[in-house]
This record gives sequence, structure tokens and C-alpha cells, in this order.
Amino acid sequence: MMDSPFKGTLWIILVFLTLPHLSCNMLCPSSCQCYFKGPVKCVGDTITDIPKQLPVHTYLLQLNDTNMNVINEQSLANMDLLLRFSLTHSHLHSIHPSAFHVAPQLKSVKLSSNDLSTLPARVFSPLITLEQLHLDGNQLKTIAPDMFDGLVRLLDLDLSWNKLSSPSSNVFDGLTQLKFLNLGRNSIKKLPPTIFHTLTNLRKLMIYNNELEVLEAGIFDGLVNLVELKIHQNQITSLPPQVFWSLRNLTILNLSSNRLQAIPEKSFYNMPKLSKLTIYNNPLLSLPDQLMGHMPDMTDFYLYATNLTTVPGNLFANMSGLRSLNLHFNDKLRDLPSDLFCCIPKLEKLSLKSNDLHYLHPQLFSGLTTLGMLLLNDNKLQGLPENIFQGIRGVFSVDLNNNHLKTALKVLTLSGNPWDCTCSIRGIAKWIRHNEHVVLDRQDVMCQSPVHQQLRTIDSLRDEEFNFCDAVIVKSRYLSTHEPTKPFHTITTSRQTSVVASVTTPAYNNINPHSRSYPTSRRPNNHSNYKTIYLTYHHPTNNSPNSHHHPA
Ligand SMILES: *[C@@H]1O[C@H](CO)[C@@H](O)[C@H](O)[C@H]1NC(C)=O
Ligand SMILES: *[C@@H]1O[C@H](CO)[C@@H](O)[C@H](O)[C@H]1NC(C)=O
Ligand SMILES: *[C@@H]1O[C@H](CO)[C@@H](O)[C@H](O)[C@H]1NC(C)=O
Ligand SMILES: *[C@@H]1O[C@H](CO)[C@@H](O)[C@H](O)[C@H]1NC(C)=O
Ligand SMILES: *[C@@H]1O[C@H](CO)[C@@H](O)[C@H](O)[C@H]1NC(C)=O
Ligand SMILES: *[C@@H]1O[C@H](CO)[C@@H](O)[C@H](O)[C@H]1NC(C)=O
Repeated sequence: MMDSPFKGTLWIILVFLTLPHLSCNMLCPSSCQCYFKGPVKCVGDTITDIPKQLPVHTYLLQLNDTNMNVINEQSLANMDLLLRFSLTHSHLHSIHPSAFHVAPQLKSVKLSSNDLSTLPARVFSPLITLEQLHLDGNQLKTIAPDMFDGLVRLLDLDLSWNKLSSPSSNVFDGLTQLKFLNLGRNSIKKLPPTIFHTLTNLRKLMIYNNELEVLEAGIFDGLVNLVELKIHQNQITSLPPQVFWSLRNLTILNLSSNRLQAIPEKSFYNMPKLSKLTIYNNPLLSLPDQLMGHMPDMTDFYLYATNLTTVPGNLFANMSGLRSLNLHFNDKLRDLPSDLFCCIPKLEKLSLKSNDLHYLHPQLFSGLTTLGMLLLNDNKLQGLPENIFQGIRGVFSVDLNNNHLKTALKVLTLSGNPWDCTCSIRGIAKWIRHNEHVVLDRQDVMCQSPVHQQLRTIDSLRDEEFNFCDAVIVKSRYLSTHEPTKPFHTITTSRQTSVVASVTTPAYNNINPHSRSYPTSRRPNNHSNYKTIYLTYHHPTNNSPNSHHHPA
């Protein structure tokens, strides 16, 4: 007797539990995928309006690549739980002026990659809880000043890839919560000086790939929370003084590919958190003596493809944490002040390649004790001062390809090393033969092993003797720091056009050929005092354009 009502209840519970799942499967329109907890994704050109009979729990609806060209007055009706709506890649060209009145609960609307060229007045204004609005990839030429009125919760506004040319000065007024604003890839020629003034919570501002010619004074004032500012690929010819001074939280600033010939002094002061600053591809003619404020977090700095002929001696003095400095491809850069690298002791990589350097000051690198890689290739260096690498400790590689190193280059002595003349010596032997003028003591550079090669000089080893060594031998450069007393030679080849030969030698000995005595703390068996110099050159093959530095 107690049994049957209990059974009935069980049945009801079971039916109740399975119902949502059932209805979900049953009601998911064709062309759509309905996921268990509410997302629905619909794709295909059979879709011309929002599918009816979507599962009741749909909170996210993504329509992509459809034929839905219009959002009607009732398209979004009866979807009270819908929070996120996207209609993308669908040739959408019209939105009914009241389309969003029926769905004021929406938090996200993405209408990217459509054909919208106009928007009805205040069409989004009913969406008072909207946080995300993406209108990128449309044909919008103008946006009414009151278009975003009422969107007080908006966090993320993407207007990139449109045809905007001159946004009005109050179009963003009231978006006080906005964190992300993308205006990139439009045709903006002018931005009013107060356009961003209410955006005090903005974190990222993208204005890249436009046609801006000037930045108005004060345009970034008030953006105290801005972390990233990208204004690269414009036509900006000058910066107003102090234009970035409000941006004390900025960490990334991209000014590349503009038309700056000069930068006002102290432009990058008051940006203590800056860690990435890119200014390359501007026809800069000179830089002021005071430019960079204290920026200890700057680790990578790029200054290239400019018309600079020299730079101020203290340019990097405030970047004490710099690890990688790329001052290259400045084809007019001829002089470097002797103290330029004075105050960047942590520098690990320095690229000075493809400049117009004729001469280097003997003290130029003296502060760079931890330098690991130095690129000096493609300059016009005639020689190097005798002790130029003296300060550098540890593993170190230098690329001197393609210079005018014709006169005696007193860089290297290689004798006194236990050279192992097996296959791995091949590249070094070749390098020595082609660079007789560089290796001062080549008559004393002798093989210690294998036994049958003992006391042969390395430059007497003919390349044919190594024909059996066709396999390429590559060893980790770290071996040199762990086992510095063992001979260590690395040869890498790439399509026979370049060889890197590395030489592990005691730091003192190889710098000063006349010094044969070591201070006690710097005996050659003290591992920390070994340095490896990687010498890069190109094979004199017919198709190598870089072989002209070999002695005739
Ligand atoms: C939307 O459709 C476009 C065009 O067919 C396609 O390139 C894109 O990957 C699709 N995106 C998603 C999220 O499915
Ligand atoms: C900006 O800096 C201030 C202090 O300088 C700090 O209180 C605030 O949290 C920072 N904002 C961001 C987004 O880092
Ligand atoms: C800076 O702008 C250049 C284009 O001029 C671009 O190639 C580069 O990726 C940008 N860097 C960053 C960090 O955005
Ligand atoms: C380094 O930064 C400090 C503080 O920002 C500034 O006073 C000083 O002038 C800067 N030095 C140079 C060489 O610009
Ligand atoms: C910068 O150099 C390039 C070629 O190297 C030249 O065409 C251009 O006119 C120079 N710009 C300025 C402002 O000197
Ligand atoms: C190696 O030299 C460094 C100084 O360059 C010194 O601090 C260290 O004590 C030396 N180590 C040995 C084992 O001699």
C-alpha cells in the first residue's frame, strides 16, 4: 500500500530530472549545437533570423557565418536569460532602432565582421548592464556623439577595422568604467584633445594603424590607470611636450612606424613602470640629452630603422635593468659615445648590427660584464681597439661579419689551449686560415690530441683532411661553463653558408697577448674566468653574398 505512491513520486522525480536534458536535445534547432548548461552555437547560411525554440536556459548565443542580415525589433525577444549574444561574419547591415529594447539584460554584444555602415541613434542605450561591445570589422564611418550614452557598465569597446575618420570629442563621455578601447585600423586623422578624458579606468588604448598626424597636447591626461598604449603605424610627425606624463602606470608603449624626426626632451619621464618601449621605424634625426626617466623595469629596448647619426651618452643611463638592447639597422649611425653603455650592467644581448659604425671607443663595452652576445656585423669597422672586450666575463659571442677589418685585429690569441683536433676543429681551422690577421699567435696554436696530430698547428690542417667528418657536431654552449678546462669547440652549419666556431680560452690570456701571468684569483683553472668567444663568418661559397671580408 505504501509502495505505489512512493513509486509515483519516484517517477515524477525521474521525469523532472531528465526533462531539461530531453528538451535541450529535442529543441536544439538544426544548424545549432546546444551545450548542456546553456551555450548555443549556430553556423550556416540557412540561418536568416535567430532560431526560434532555443533551449530555455540559453545564456550564450553565438551565430557565425549566417545569412542573418538584419536584427529585427523582435529578433531577441523572449530570451530573458540570454546574457551574451554574438552575430559575426554574417553580412549584417541593419539593426532595428528598438532591437535591444527586448533584451536589456545583455552583458555582451559582438557584431564583428559584418557590413554595418550606420547605427540607429542610441541603439545600444537600453543595455544598461552591457560590459562588452564589439563592432570591429564593419564599415562605420561615423559614430554619433550620443551612441554610447547610458552604457555606464561598459568595460570593453572594440571599434577597430572600421572607417572612422574623426570621432567626436564627447563620444566616450560617461564610459567611466571602460578598461579596453580599440580604435585601431581605422582612418582616424584627428583626435580631439579631450576625447579620452573621462576614461580614468582605461587599461589598454589601441590607436594603431590610423592616419594620425598630430597628437594634441593633453590628450592622454587623466589616464592614470593606462597600462598599454599602442599608437604605432600612424603619420605622427611630432609629439607635444609631456604628452605621456599622466601615464604613470604605463608598461607598454608602441610608437613605431610614425614620422617622428625628433622627440621633445623628458618625453618618457614619469613612467616608472615602463617595461616595453618601441620607437623603431621613425626618421629620427637626433634625440635630446634628457629623454628617459627612471625606468628600472625596462628589460628589452628597440631603437632601430631611424636616421640617427649618434645618440646621447646617457640615453640608457636610467634603464638599469636592461637585458637586451637592439640598437641596429640605423644605417646612418656612425658614432657611439664612449659611456653609452655605462649604466646597464645586466645587459646580456647587444645588437649593433647594420649600423654605420667606423670606430669603437676602447672603453665602449667596459661596463658590460655579463654580456653574452654582441652583434657588430654589417658595419664599417676597420679594426677593433686592443682591449675592447676586456671587461666581459663568461660565455660571450661576437659577430663581426661583413666589416672592413683589413688591418691587424688584435683581438685573439688562441695558443695555450688544449686543442682537440678531431672533426670539431674543422670550422675553427678554416676560420683561422681565413682570418690570419686576427689570430696573432696562429703559429703557436697547436693540437694536443689526438696523438697523431700532436704539435701540428691548427692552421696547417687542410679541409680535405676532414672529409670523413660529414656529420655536423653540435654541442651545447653550456658545456663551456661546466667543463671549461676541456677543449670545447662548436660547429654548426646551415646550408654551408655559415659556420660558428667557438673557442674557449682563459679570459685574460686571449685579450692581452703579452700577458702570460695570471693574477692568482684569475688562474685559468678558475672556471668563472673562462670565456667562450664565438666567431661567426661565412664560407666563401659562390652564392654567399657575405664573403667579401676574407683576405684576397
Ligand atoms: C566565423 O566564421 C568565419 C567566416 O566563415 C570564420 O573565419 C571564423 O573562424 C568563424 N568563427 C568562429 C568562432 O567559428
Ligand atoms: C596605478 O598606480 C597606482 C599607484 O601609482 C596604483 O594604486 C594603481 O593600482 C595602479 N593601477 C594599475 C592598473 O596598476
Ligand atoms: C609595435 O609596432 C610594430 C609596428 O610598427 C609592430 O610590428 C610590433 O609588433 C608592435 N609591438 C608591440 C609590442 O605591440
Ligand atoms: C633619470 O631619471 C631621473 C628621474 O626620472 C631624472 O631626474 C634624470 O634626469 C634622468 N636622467 C637622464 C639622463 O635623463
Ligand atoms: C631618412 O633616411 C632615408 C633613407 O635612408 C631618407 O629617404 C629620408 O629622407 C631620411 N629622412 C629624414 C627626415 O632625413
Ligand atoms: C675565481 O675568481 C673569482 C673572481 O673572479 C673569485 O671570486 C673566486 O673566489 C675564484 N674561485 C676560485 C676557486 O679560485
